[in-house]
Amino acid sequence: MTRDTTSDRGRDPDGEDAAEPLPDGGTAAGDDETTLDPWGSATVADYRKLFEDFGIEAFDEILAEVPDPHYLMRRGVIFGHRDYRKVAEAMATGEPFAALSGFMPTGDPHIGHKLVFDEIIWHQQQGGDAYALIADLEANSARGMTWDEIDEHARDYLLSLLALGFDPEEGELYRQSDNRELQDLGFELGESANFSELENIYGFDGETSVSHMQSVVTQMADILYPQLDEPKPTVIPVGPDQDPHVRLARDLAARTQFFGVTKAYASFEADADEREHLAAAYGALSEDTDEPVRCEDAADWLEAEMAPDDARERVAAKLREAGKEPLRPRVRFLDRNATDEAFEALIDAVDGEKRVFDEHVDSFELSREAAEELAREVELDHGGYGFVAPSSIYHRFMTGLTGGKMSSSVPASHISLLDDPEDGYEKVKAATTGGRETAEKQRELGGQADECPVYELYAYLLAGDDDEFAKRVYDECVDGERLCGDCKEQAAELMREFLADHQEKRAEVQELLEAADIDLDSDRART
Ligand code: TRP
Ligand code: SF4
Repeated sequence: MTRDTTSDRGRDPDGEDAAEPLPDGGTAAGDDETTLDPWGSATVADYRKLFEDFGIEAFDEILAEVPDPHYLMRRGVIFGHRDYRKVAEAMATGEPFAALSGFMPTGDPHIGHKLVFDEIIWHQQQGGDAYALIADLEANSARGMTWDEIDEHARDYLLSLLALGFDPEEGELYRQSDNRELQDLGFELGESANFSELENIYGFDGETSVSHMQSVVTQMADILYPQLDEPKPTVIPVGPDQDPHVRLARDLAARTQFFGVTKAYASFEADADEREHLAAAYGALSEDTDEPVRCEDAADWLEAEMAPDDARERVAAKLREAGKEPLRPRVRFLDRNATDEAFEALIDAVDGEKRVFDEHVDSFELSREAAEELAREVELDHGGYGFVAPSSIYHRFMTGLTGGKMSSSVPASHISLLDDPEDGYEKVKAATTGGRETAEKQRELGGQADECPVYELYAYLLAGDDDEFAKRVYDECVDGERLCGDCKEQAAELMREFLADHQEKRAEVQELLEAADIDLDSDRART
């Protein structure tokens, strides 16, 4: 399979032009390249590339807007996001929001999964509706797990989730195969996606099973599921390998909308590139005059001032066609999937100066946000979903304890939440470090905490909420005051304690899980 590799899939589909299918420039990538493959080995050679090449935004930039941020956010473990600002805003203002993530029950839950458990739980504690799902259809179709294996692992994931603090009475747990509403939503979303698109995004080909494809639409439904009772900002905490899913879900959410809302300048239709030209022409020509700016003058301006490209040619032709029509900025409601009734209702609902066309309405007074709000209200009144584009946050992958990747197939490289506390202790003691060859050198040069899997354990888990402690370990390491032997001993003891404590809590929440509304014995006899 080819993967969704470093590529430019076009602009973010939030609102603008989301109905246009996005081309995928994905090409096969070498080992060092950044690949985002949900079912392969996702490699991230360079996290910065994810910003430039995939359009993931840096988390730093919105950290200050998050009320009382989680330590994984403060320490940069959560490094990226899509559109998280609206979730942070909802959190800050007490508006409804949700968090959802899913787990493929393919093995034991490990300390990498703990990051996601913690993220869901934190959003729940911040007042969000929290959802955790067992991706059993995906595990069966994409990973070939049997239903018995799935049942067993599912129980283990959920016990850890509850032990870490998820409240099953407030939040919702489900498994994909048991959720009828979810399947219906998936079916419906599947109507707006086709095979070529899945081929481009995921590298599916003629050999890909139909069930695997079904697991994709099911995940799309998972991502939008929290909005079925009411549209709300929803965050999906995941590793960056899941970003292709997030982008597709954002596209599909937009495609189901009754109305697309865009900016426009004249009566004709324009795509995003053309709109940029229109904005530039309007901006320049309206600057020192109160006279109307005519379309034909804008065409002249573009041809004189802007470098020639396809979009310029297209829009200049449209402007000439429109001749003396004045250019005026406006918000446009495009009829995408609305019934006639809903379209009529929208027309009535637009206050102030407006112009009505066959397939769109232009408003000269509404702001973009007010227009989106209105479009959503009318959609909801007429039986639509009114989905808000889902948001995501991305955490770094943990380095394996043996160096290289943390992999569930190499037990020494990772720590399972079910590991015997003594084994956990031993694994940390045996871990590679960022230390120097000799103690003298370490005192002289300091250790390389940034490249040390043991330091990662402190930052991601062992230091918990205690930033001062994490910082002290770091500073002492790089200043050469901390030597690896003692440092690992301390980490190993903390790990032993953590595992013992976690496992005790798992035992305590057994009953809570039995009482929760999720069936852990699938009635499927066949594999
Ligand atoms: N595909 C995810 C994984 O491989 C599991 C998953 C299924 C999921 N549905 C989801 C993750 C919805 C986030 C949101 O682990
Ligand atoms: Fe890693 Fe600790 Fe050694 Fe520093 S002192 S390199 S943090 S093990």
